Amino acid sequence: MYSEKVMDHFTNPRNVGEIEDANGIGQVGNAKCGDIMKIYLKIENDIIEDVKFKTFGCGSAIASSSIATEMIKGKSIQEAVEITNKAVVEALGGLPAPKVHCSVLAEQAVKAALLDYAKKNNIEIKGLEDFD
Ligand code: FES
Ligand code: FES
Repeated sequence: MYSEKVMDHFTNPRNVGEIEDANGIGQVGNAKCGDIMKIYLKIENDIIEDVKFKTFGCGSAIASSSIATEMIKGKSIQEAVEITNKAVVEALGGLPAPKVHCSVLAEQAVKAALLDYAKKNNIEIKGLEDFD
């Protein structure tokens, strides 16, 4: 049912924790399942230098947030904005249909953290106009 990649990121999640001097923090929740995901970003010169996450949620949500942090680390803000839940699912080698919303949570948490950074720094990030 779950790919090896999902099991790997669930049992050995990368980038778990908090960043004390994070300059972008996003938290999102899914009303239906009650799962919560929080992403901390440390952005310098437009680059995501560090990223950590805390997820109170199901295994797929943990695996999705873990792989999403790997996908955005070292990337530019613009590259991070473009990461979709579809890309997260693909990177995980697939998710069962009822678990696709868990990957949506990861995309939204990243976007929420980027939006927080944008607001704090009074900048606009292309692709986040409709996200709030
Ligand atoms: Fe928690 Fe199913 S919602 S185990
Ligand atoms: Fe809701 Fe996974 S069951 S995030």
